[in-house]
Amino acid sequence: MLTRVRSGVLILAVFAGACASDRALDEVEGVEPPNELEAPEVAAPELDARPPIVAGEPLYPETLVRLVEGDARDTERLADVGMCASCHEEVYAAWRASPHAAASFDNPWYRQAVDTFREERSPEASRFCAGCHNPVLLLADAMEEPIEPADPRAHAGVTCLVCHGIQEARADGVGSYTLSTAPVPLPDPAVPEEVAVHVAALTPDPLRTAALCGTCHRGFLGPDMGNPHHLPGVDEPTAWARSGFAGSRASRLDTRVEPATCQGCHMPLVDASDRDFATTDGRIHSHRVPGGHTALAGARNDAAQLAVLREGLTGVARVDVAAVRSGARSTRPADGARLVPGRVELDVVVRNLAVGHRFPGGTRDAQDTWLEVEVRDARGALVAEAGTRHAAARDETAHRLVAGLVDDDAQVHDLHHVQHFRAAIFDRTLAPRDAEVVRYAFELTADVAQPLSIDARLRHRRHSHPMHAAACAATRSPRGRAFAATSVALGRIPIDGCAEQPVTEVASARVWIGAGAEGREAAGGATDARFQRLFDHALALIGDVQEHLDDARPSLAAALRAAPDDAARAMVHGQLARLEGRQGRLAAALDQATRAERLIGEHPAIHRLRGDAYAQVWRWEDAAEAYRLAAEGAPLDESRWTDLARALGSAGHDEEALVAADRGLTIDPRGSSLLRSRYLALEGLGADAGVASDAYLAHRVPDALSALRLRCGQRSAWCALERLPVHVHDLRPAQGHASSAR
Ligand code: HEC
Ligand code: HEC
Ligand code: HEC
Ligand code: HEC
Ligand code: HEC
Repeated sequence: MLTRVRSGVLILAVFAGACASDRALDEVEGVEPPNELEAPEVAAPELDARPPIVAGEPLYPETLVRLVEGDARDTERLADVGMCASCHEEVYAAWRASPHAAASFDNPWYRQAVDTFREERSPEASRFCAGCHNPVLLLADAMEEPIEPADPRAHAGVTCLVCHGIQEARADGVGSYTLSTAPVPLPDPAVPEEVAVHVAALTPDPLRTAALCGTCHRGFLGPDMGNPHHLPGVDEPTAWARSGFAGSRASRLDTRVEPATCQGCHMPLVDASDRDFATTDGRIHSHRVPGGHTALAGARNDAAQLAVLREGLTGVARVDVAAVRSGARSTRPADGARLVPGRVELDVVVRNLAVGHRFPGGTRDAQDTWLEVEVRDARGALVAEAGTRHAAARDETAHRLVAGLVDDDAQVHDLHHVQHFRAAIFDRTLAPRDAEVVRYAFELTADVAQPLSIDARLRHRRHSHPMHAAACAATRSPRGRAFAATSVALGRIPIDGCAEQPVTEVASARVWIGAGAEGREAAGGATDARFQRLFDHALALIGDVQEHLDDARPSLAAALRAAPDDAARAMVHGQLARLEGRQGRLAAALDQATRAERLIGEHPAIHRLRGDAYAQVWRWEDAAEAYRLAAEGAPLDESRWTDLARALGSAGHDEEALVAADRGLTIDPRGSSLLRSRYLALEGLGADAGVASDAYLAHRVPDALSALRLRCGQRSAWCALERLPVHVHDLRPAQGHASSAR
């Protein structure tokens, strides 16, 4: 069936259907029989008598939005949510509370950014933003003009008929959809035939697929938007497609997660009244799209939306104090560690458990999820801390899960003024199911009463302090007040960008260390199974730079002893294979991969481990063979095709490399490594590689990146620290405590 798939859009569409059906997976995904490696067969959606879509040309250079050919471009209809609200009250109310309804100029976070963009670039250039944030103004050709607060179109974000009118979803992103604004057949609810026509018209093929969401939730900057070179932006689909949530199993050996599309997690069935014709058995698909936008709920004083968001955020990640180093001794898990006076180091581990993409996601440069750590003595007096003041104002000791984007001067930007973005220097957000370790240090003096309690908390807030301040200013300005007045006139609750941001505790952990720790109670992530704690610690360390790799070995050895079953043991051998492979020890890596395979059978992640180990020592033929098996077991994961194309090309198999690269490009049409493989393969085949070469040059990682990285570290201590994968944050000694006297 896969050979029938010709475009990335179709792959996503087909697969999204597969996620919805309940696949019979065993408890650990690794024990599936090999024949299950095929993507599951999915019945093609019933194709009714609707005419085939004829896509028009792109309408503007800055965004990839297209209209169905011959479309009347009726923007009044596109904006008319009231028409739908009359029969879909529940959906309307939920959508109204969502960020989709607030994606346009009435949103002060967006407004401060887009107004600046229009000023610094040009109104025309801001059509780029409009394809995703406010298609109504875009298609009305109003972005070229001043945007007036009293214009109701400036208050129309992602309306009903945007999503329900998308007839085709292409994989590029930046508004890569084909829209119809044709008249919508409204039914007499008592006439089944009319209802059927209505339903068919409003559920076009892409609606229930991840590809639909991907058209706006994948973005990039480039010369068409006025940036000197290609730079990937918001991107949920890529991380999702590589993960177990999309059914891709080659990232790592892992405990099984429930496959889900974007809709599966963000549009769950919820209780609803019969006031909505679409309510079935008292349930309807939520249009609140709960994610992380607690700030919007707070700024509209919307307790119901905030409650849904908080429930969704709680527990999506785990936190643990996984190791303590004191003197020459390292104790893992940390509990009960023996302490000697002097420097003490703590390894706090954060793992993304349940977010189907990076956490936090979306605009990763403007996020503000941070870690707090408190060390207290036996009497409960504070000894040292980090991040604890961040709720009130920027706390330099806070480790934040955020991406650092810099301008030409290597200055980090945090207002999402994308026109200044040149390169991502670091990204401390977490890929699905991935872990990172954050190291803290303090000086322990002999007079501190033991045992010590260590509390770690992961706290979420939607916007960084500067972003909040900018939105507050944009709310208080005369323009902001005019927007609020129109919101009120339209019967909506205006967005108060100055409202205090809600903070949500996502996860926490408490451990006790030092003399007398036994019998004291651990809490949160520190009460998880010993295997889990050790495994997550190792997982985080192996993601790190070369020199910390050996640090993962003791945790892996202990995890192997604590493993409850074969699947868990296989997970450890998988990590050992990765570690040996990264250190260039081919035989040891292959041996670990074989051990894992003996425990759980064939698995795409094991093929991938072998491929990586061979590639590390340039054995390209063998790498290609292993990568091919991995790619077949994870058809949606574009990085598998990237690896395969590179290995085939390096082994001199240009023809096959070309096929693999093209396959990957259907999923990620702008992947720079894929474009490079494609160009090199064509050149190797003696074909005309001019266009392919241009495409690669237009998307490659800029040469200036390493220089920017260096400069960023030189000009900011924060940047210098965060660009190191495992770095040490010094805890702030408590004021007045004995240990602070040093
Ligand atoms: C005159 C009433 C009426 C209006 C106005 C109306 N709808 Fe509907 N809609 C219905 C009825 C009735 C159903 C069928 C409900 C059912 O049986 O599940 C329906 C079903 C739907 C469905 C259901 C799809 C499914 O999977 O079952 C969608 C989507 C939808 N409408 C979208 C819209 C949108 C968008 C608008 C505004 C452009 C709109 N509707 C306006 C009455 C209406
Ligand atoms: C961000 C895209 C998006 C927007 C905006 C949107 N919808 Fe939907 N809507 C969907 C998707 C996707 C589904 C299908 C969900 C599923 O079946 O998993 C859906 C389903 C529905 C349904 C069927 C619900 C059910 O439980 O069967 C109705 C009715 C509906 N939408 C109406 C509307 C109306 C009215 C609006 C505007 C007030 C709107 N939608 C805005 C994406 C959207
Ligand atoms: C397995 C569940 C799951 C799947 C699948 C999933 N998400 Fe999410 N998503 C979450 C959770 C939980 C959050 C809240 C945590 C956060 O903010 O990252 C979230 C947050 C978000 C956010 C808000 C990020 C922020 O905080 O600003 C966006 C946007 C988003 N998801 C889009 C998508 C898209 C698009 C897809 C499909 C490609 C998708 N999600 C698939 C669970 C999921
Ligand atoms: C036409 C473009 C468009 C489409 C299609 C679209 N979105 Fe969005 N979405 C946006 C924009 C723009 C925002 C940000 C609004 C803001 O805060 O300014 C957003 C915000 C979100 C958020 C953020 C919520 C949060 O709490 O931060 C989630 C989750 C989300 N979308 C999920 C989805 C899902 C799921 C789909 C597919 C069913 C989808 N979106 C389709 C444009 C789109
Ligand atoms: C590819 C589609 C796309 C394009 C193009 C785009 N955005 Fe966004 N933008 C999004 C999505 C999706 C989100 C929500 C992500 C999240 O929830 O974190 C978002 C969020 C934002 C936010 C945060 C809004 C909030 O409510 O917190 C700002 C500010 C923003 N965008 C500004 C811009 C500006 C200015 C432009 C043009 C220069 C632009 N965006 C272009 C898709 C896009």
